[in-house]
Amino acid sequence: MIYYFTGTGNSYYAAKVLGINLQQSIENLGDSQRAGITKKVPALKKDEPLGFVFPVYAWGPPTWVLNFIESLDVENNPPGYTFAIATCGENIGNTMNTLRKALKQKNIGLDYGYSLKMPNNYMMMGSKVEAGQKAEEKIRRADLLLSKISEDIKSREKGFTLNKGFMPKILSKAVNPLFLKYAIDTKKFRVNRNCISCGLCRRICNTGTIELVAGKPVWGKECVQCLACINYCPVQAIDYGRGTRNKGRYKNPRISPMELEIRGKE
Ligand SMILES: Cc1cc2nc3c(=O)[nH]c(=O)nc-3n(C[C@H](O)[C@H](O)[C@H](O)COP(=O)(O)O)c2cc1C
Repeated sequence: MIYYFTGTGNSYYAAKVLGINLQQSIENLGDSQRAGITKKVPALKKDEPLGFVFPVYAWGPPTWVLNFIESLDVENNPPGYTFAIATCGENIGNTMNTLRKALKQKNIGLDYGYSLKMPNNYMMMGSKVEAGQKAEEKIRRADLLLSKISEDIKSREKGFTLNKGFMPKILSKAVNPLFLKYAIDTKKFRVNRNCISCGLCRRICNTGTIELVAGKPVWGKECVQCLACINYCPVQAIDYGRGTRNKGRYKNPRISPMELEIRGKE
């Protein structure tokens, strides 16, 4: 079983490829949280690995990934092998340590981990999204690595291949908490007059926090800043403060937005 979380399709794409290569089911780990399920018992078949694929946010795993792990109950059916793939634009700091600690709390070991570079989807704080040729090259490289990762997992390889970046401890221990505390403020989302009221932002919102009021999106409080709403808006009507204007947008070119629409939302 492979659980994934994704904003703009990179991690979903990686999970999908791994699911096909390993003949494993994939499931959006947000599904149970949106449904308010606090205890998740994965139905693992004999010898079935347990996998996680998710994007890195400010050198840590998204909070929904950690919350999901907290809800896991594998007491009666512990996985024999667990792996995690963290997709990132550049580097992941100590993300894997954070994940490993969360899994340890549930008596789950982490056998294998990989940081998989994919196009950057973040366009705040001086960062620019990667699109076009640069994005395509990164995805092509990721394809090759996904084949290798699949083979590693098939042979139950153990070990970690991680691009942690410079001073990973500081990135994950100091910057990540600041990001969680100060960077996510849904009051900063803006919608301009280009909005065509298509409602896609609402349908792809991971946390289900977007409602349409008079045809326009309004954000509630629950947000992990996956940036699906900004990146997928077909007319670039959404911004976050002033910092995202004219910064370009990214969506994984191999994934259709329809694949990311959250079940249960029309
Ligand atoms: C809020 C936020 C923070 C991010 N922080 C990092 C980071 O610390 N390091 C990095 O290399 N990429 C970072 N990125 C880029 C994403 O991790 C990367 O583009 C990822 O593949 C997106 O996956 P997705 O398409 O499944 O959402 C960040 C993206 C967002 C939206």
